[in-house]
Amino acid sequence: MLKFLVINGPNLNMLGIREKQIYGTQNYAALVDFIRECGQKLNVETDIFQSNHEGAIVDRIQAAYGTADGIVINPAAYTHTSVAILDALKAVSLPAVEVHLSDIYQREEFRHISYPFKACLTSFYGFGFDGYRKALFFLKEHCIKQT
Ligand code: DQA
Repeated sequence: MLKFLVINGPNLNMLGIREKQIYGTQNYAALVDFIRECGQKLNVETDIFQSNHEGAIVDRIQAAYGTADGIVINPAAYTHTSVAILDALKAVSLPAVEVHLSDIYQREEFRHISYPFKACLTSFYGFGFDGYRKALFFLKEHCIKQT
């Protein structure tokens, strides 16, 4: 069974509390349940990780080397700043897909740049929770095509 690491960056643990008009009213536990259910329906294993710390995210990406088949990542605010996360994704060279709950390209200009995207196959943004389903589906199709 394909095994995908799903990474959620800083403040995503505050879903349901933070900026509800942008991120919705469902909390982080609901997002984890949603991702897990999507994985079950697609018959892929999902290992879901959240951290508010850039280095912890880098460590988790490195640990995926040789243990995971692909990565779905919502780097949250680190999207717009983190060369370290970009380099970690490049280092492990696993197929990766970027997700954002909101449409970052319709928001402030500083959100329009994504460093990790440069190491990702594609990105789903503005679909809310459903972006994770789309990302898992895309990654599964990609991995099947490679074998
Ligand atoms: C986000 C968008 C980022 O700009 C922001 O910093 C987040 C969440 C999203 O999922 O829409 O924390 O990644």
